[in-house]
Amino acid sequence: MAIERTFSIIKPDATARNLTGAVNAIIEKAGLRIVAQKRIRMTRDQAETFYAVHKARPFFGELVDFMISAPVVVQVLEGEGAIAKYRDVMGATDPSKAADGTIRKLHAKSIGENSVHGSDASETAAIEIAQFFSGNEIVG
Ligand code: CMP
Repeated sequence: MAIERTFSIIKPDATARNLTGAVNAIIEKAGLRIVAQKRIRMTRDQAETFYAVHKARPFFGELVDFMISAPVVVQVLEGEGAIAKYRDVMGATDPSKAADGTIRKLHAKSIGENSVHGSDASETAAIEIAQFFSGNEIVG
């Protein structure tokens, strides 16, 4: 399988509970390399742009408010089949449906406050990475 990059966010519910290291340990144990990482406070503009695909959903406002409520850690993860692998490592969006050992099963609070985001396809990964990182900030 090809080496890929995917975009990850450790969300406000996780940073607020001091879980950045715990989440990163699961990521690294799964064989993914954290090749870029920064802790930021997302602006409303950034969050609305990032989640623009969900603009028509009833939870859009709540989602944006949550993402700007506390710091997040944005990351680029690299590895074989990184996009699908990270989705496996995260577990289902709804933590009550997430498999044992996944980040969301272990740490997420609810479908909204679900600790992590990961890209769903290679096209979106490229767009999401470019929204938060320039090329020279990613060191593989
Ligand atoms: P994420 O992978 O970041 O992509 C979209 C996010 O919308 C998703 O994770 C959830 O956190 C959030 N989301 C999905 N469904 C709901 C919902 N019913 N209520 C609130 N947030 C939701």
